[in-house]
Amino acid sequence: MGQLDGKVAIVTGAGGGLGRAHALLLAQEGAQVVVNDLGGDRHGAGGGTSMADGVVDEINAAGGSAVAHYGSVTDDADAAGMVKTAVDNFGRLDILINNAGILRDKSFKNMSDDEWDIVIDVHLRGTYLVTKHAWQQMLDQGEGGRIVMTSSTSGLIGNFGQANYGAAKAGIAGFMRVLALEGMKYGITVNVLAPAALSRMTEDIMPDVPDLGERLAPEKVSPTVVWLCTNDAAKVTGRQFCVSGNRTSLLSWQVDVVAEKDALDTPWTVEEMGEAMAQSMETWPKLLKPMEV
Ligand code: NAI
Repeated sequence: MGQLDGKVAIVTGAGGGLGRAHALLLAQEGAQVVVNDLGGDRHGAGGGTSMADGVVDEINAAGGSAVAHYGSVTDDADAAGMVKTAVDNFGRLDILINNAGILRDKSFKNMSDDEWDIVIDVHLRGTYLVTKHAWQQMLDQGEGGRIVMTSSTSGLIGNFGQANYGAAKAGIAGFMRVLALEGMKYGITVNVLAPAALSRMTEDIMPDVPDLGERLAPEKVSPTVVWLCTNDAAKVTGRQFCVSGNRTSLLSWQVDVVAEKDALDTPWTVEEMGEAMAQSMETWPKLLKPMEV
């Protein structure tokens, strides 16, 4: 008995890396899986069927049940097609893991409009499009659902050279926070994953640490994602989980009041505000670097 017996999942960008690991573990827990992947290179160029097919074969060979979908998350018809593939093959849709992604790293002064646009398109619009169709299917079924959106510490905290990617990943987190509220009355949970894993995407940007391949194997991120899809996680929504190897952390918000006086009083002067800021600033937490999470 798996924890996801009878459930149907879509994993976007599941032909390799984290998406592949999520798809394999979802299937191992009993979910039937639509393995989507465009099959392009790491920059989003090209396409092909072999990546998605390879993961489908792995799942089927292990006794699970999966079908491939080769479309792009950036195409509305393809996004609709992923949901249709789930319904046509397995009768329903319970789980969406938005995972597909690309990088176009450049410092902001060197970044072209094309590099900005394509990264926003794949991550933010791609997450929006697939979620839009999955959301409607989940509402039609009326039995709730599970959505995990893949963000990044690059968007939640910041990372040099990733203005496009950080903006997209922060947008995904904002999207999640609103959908989590809107999904509550329908039993649809929406959470964010900020992973760290050694994959095709990160192999040349990870620090040189011994045993990195083992420490940051994508398979170590998937149990958190798959648990979020179980019945036990029915009340877990609107959260941001940073998962790095075998460590899962909750990234929460803290509100620090910097300056306050009675609302009916006159506004602060700029000088007074400066004094309040200077005093308060000494107590502010230092800026995190992504690897410290
Ligand atoms: P990866 O490059 O191995 O996997 C991404 C997959 O998405 C690829 O198989 C690619 O073919 C697919 N893909 C790209 N564009 C697509 C499109 N338009 N439609 C459908 N599929 C498409 O990279 P990795 O590391 O597994 O990344 C997975 C997700 O995790 C991404 O969203 C990435 O931004 C995010 N992430 C990864 C981190 C890491 O340390 N590996 C850190 C933070 C976030």
